[in-house]
Amino acid sequence: MAAFSPPPGTADIFEPEAREWREIERIGSEIFSRYGYGELRTPVFEYTEVFQKGLGSETEVVQKEMYTFSDRGGRSLTLRPEGTAGVMRALSNTDVMNQVEQRVRYFGPMFRGERPAAGRRRQFHQIGVENVGRCAPLIDAECIAMLGAFLRAIGLGDFVIAVNTRGVSGDRGPAEELLRNYFARHLDAMCDDCRTRFERNIWRILDCKQPSCGEIVAGAPDYVASFSEDSRRYFDEVRRALDALKIPYKVDPRLVRGLDYYVHTVFEVTHPALGPQTAIAGGGRYELFLPGGKRPVPGVGFAAGVERLLLAREALGVKAPAPAGPVAYLVGLNAQARLANLALADELRAAGIPVGLELEERSFKAQLREANRSGAPLAVVRGDSEMEKNTVIVKNMADGEQTEISADAVFEFLHKRDLSK
Ligand code: HAM
Repeated sequence: MAAFSPPPGTADIFEPEAREWREIERIGSEIFSRYGYGELRTPVFEYTEVFQKGLGSETEVVQKEMYTFSDRGGRSLTLRPEGTAGVMRALSNTDVMNQVEQRVRYFGPMFRGERPAAGRRRQFHQIGVENVGRCAPLIDAECIAMLGAFLRAIGLGDFVIAVNTRGVSGDRGPAEELLRNYFARHLDAMCDDCRTRFERNIWRILDCKQPSCGEIVAGAPDYVASFSEDSRRYFDEVRRALDALKIPYKVDPRLVRGLDYYVHTVFEVTHPALGPQTAIAGGGRYELFLPGGKRPVPGVGFAAGVERLLLAREALGVKAPAPAGPVAYLVGLNAQARLANLALADELRAAGIPVGLELEERSFKAQLREANRSGAPLAVVRGDSEMEKNTVIVKNMADGEQTEISADAVFEFLHKRDLSK
């Protein structure tokens, strides 16, 4: 049946799982808007250079994972692998260039050609925010605090936050030199990927997942100490603010994050339900040149992987409240009865009352089976004799008890039942 499966790394999301998705989006919107974030919906594809310039052409995402294709005019387009670059492209049309702060939140699909695994998809979804236009340690701390508030609100309060600083571009040279001198002495014992990283992007060695490289990384020099005093002070202030906010965190000098735009604060969140290797969210402060801009524009933000949030919630047994089921199922034993039921159902639904009904000609037994399946506590039945008398039979599905009431009273009767639920 392969032809009927969605492509690898993608999924169809049915109810009741879809309800869990809505819950994440609803809670996120509620919390983020409390902090002043408004929604921004950007296209799912952009000109390829938006990501090449934004994320850095040396990053793994840009080099190996982007879904890129040409439009009819031959321009290269890419399905967005993340949200930040597109948000910044969109904000270049606002006054963010003049240090007017913009706070935006987003929710939507992202695309990366990764090897699918549990919690790793080719089409995945992020819920995220970007606070763009200004740069201060307390802004970073507020952003992390908001992520914490969101995770608590969705039942993932036991999260673990790792933070680190990437300094600014001027800090990188001396730090790279320190790292280069150290790793040069250990290259023979390191994995092939790390040997390539040594040439192309030495920072990526720090987050290599190979145990043998991990041991070498553990002995690497304290490169943050070589950062400028300003950068170190910036990081101290972020940490002091996190302490004041009572947010537990650990400083992880191995945390460098995979995208090139980061400066100063970076952070990543894991949860014991998924283990320390699986980030449920990540983010940090960044700087990006916007089209036509002379100076880079600063921002800070994060994105959480919705699939991973849901996996963690599932592991903990956290579920969205079930919606109200139908108050009644309308059973019609002849064409006229079904027509009357259709009109009644429409009236009830217009009044906000969920009901189910049979619209096709089917046996009484089949309709009652359907009524049972719908979970409705009542069946409202009309046949020839009820139509003649202008009545309906209300059948209690739990104990089978039946009462006959006037058809003119049935709307009121079900309306009251709904209110008392
Ligand atoms: P990222 O760390 O690449 O950062 O992705 C953020 C989160 O998206 C990850 O922590 C993970 O939960 C989820 N994620 C990433 N790839 C996959 C995948 N293949 N399958 C399932 N989930 C995945 C960013 O994307 C940055 N734009 C975050 C940011 C916003 N930084 C500043 N502002």
